[in-house]
Amino acid sequence: MTRVEDLIVAARGAKLNAYAPYSVYSVGAAVLGADNQVYTGCNVENISYGLTICAERTALVKMVSNGCRAFSHIVIATKDGGTPCGACRQFMAEFCQKPDQVFVICISDSGQSSEFTLSELLPHSFSSDLRKTQN
Ligand code: THU
Repeated sequence: MTRVEDLIVAARGAKLNAYAPYSVYSVGAAVLGADNQVYTGCNVENISYGLTICAERTALVKMVSNGCRAFSHIVIATKDGGTPCGACRQFMAEFCQKPDQVFVICISDSGQSSEFTLSELLPHSFSSDLRKTQN
């Protein structure tokens, strides 16, 4: 069984792969998928700044492209324990049915951690009847 401690190790490992020459702010993420697999990601920047991809979305895209569409935990590792951006919160919401049962854990290099549910981080998230089918 994967524990939060294992996800922290995985997220910190992914942070080492961050490609962040412009911001020099490395981020690593580790997602525990509903398939019990761990998916990692890092931020990947671009000289055309707006093309930058966050670590959380990298990890979630890897999960979905591996055939898994739900997750229960995401650990985000940064130097200072930063919390996920709004775009990543919305992206997370896409892949969980019960946001009050999905845990987002932010950990700093020194080991300071903060834990939230996704509903705490993204209250009243966008939803509509567009979400009719699950192709
Ligand atoms: N970043 C993430 O990877 N995740 C977030 O939730 C916020 C920001 C990245 C984007 C950019 O490469 C760097 O952190 C500084 O904003």
